[in-house]
Amino acid sequence: MRSASPGLDRREAEVYAKLKPALPQHVAIIMDGNGRWARRRHLPRVAGHRAGVAAVRSTVETAARIHIPALTLYAFSAENWKRPGAEVSFLMRLLRHYLAEQLPTLMRNNIRLDYIGRIHELPADVQERMCQARTETSGNSGMVLTLALNYGSRGELVDAVSSLVSKAATNGGFEHLKVSEEAIAQQLYTCHLPELDMVIRTSGEMRLSNFLLWQAAYAEIYVTEKLWPDFRGIDLLTAILEYQKRERRYGGISAQ
Ligand code: IPE
Ligand code: IPE
Ligand code: MG
Repeated sequence: MRSASPGLDRREAEVYAKLKPALPQHVAIIMDGNGRWARRRHLPRVAGHRAGVAAVRSTVETAARIHIPALTLYAFSAENWKRPGAEVSFLMRLLRHYLAEQLPTLMRNNIRLDYIGRIHELPADVQERMCQARTETSGNSGMVLTLALNYGSRGELVDAVSSLVSKAATNGGFEHLKVSEEAIAQQLYTCHLPELDMVIRTSGEMRLSNFLLWQAAYAEIYVTEKLWPDFRGIDLLTAILEYQKRERRYGGISAQ
């Protein structure tokens, strides 16, 4: 059980006090339900995306304050290009805005920003801002915040295998090609991140939607009915409390 609550509000501190010392090392969140949040208020879908920024802010700050080493947020999937052009443009503008506006918060919380996904396919101005924000936070030694943008897990695996094959081709041919779980994992976008411990999805949807399929092999999955714009740091702490009650057997047998 914990006593000190590092900069948390009273309600957060109450949940934090119940947590055991072993926190998940890497938490990933599928931030879903923005459109439904807006629809319930008779607002356009984009209002839900805008409201989602407050959820990001609160969740990121709480995660950094309790010293989660890695937080990965699914912000735009490789399949999200199928949405109406106006919604996609809004999301790109929102991302640019978020990066500019949140930089001081990231710096204050010692957060290092990084990205996964086919970043080179994003609009040039967005890439530029992303690059600036990553460079500015690169000296921070606290939590790594990874934004998954134009990310698809199958595409990531295709990229990983392509890279293994082309490395073998340039290193003297396919007799040197070694295909193993380690070799594939080393080519994934997430190769520098700790093992994924937990996937949270908001809005009650029971699927992974092409998110971290390889990495989630033994991650604990936590689904909440809360829509993303309503999610806050306290909900992250509640999810971690639930995670700590699970028994992770990895195919073995119960320790009890
Ligand atoms: C998640 O909310 C945000 C993104 C996918 C970018 P949605 O926009 O998917 O919201 P719903 O699922 O339609 O409610
Ligand atoms: C997953 O949500 C992608 C992100 C949260 C960025 P979607 O709303 O795109 O997923 P589906 O279409 O319901 O599976
Ligand atoms: Mg959705």
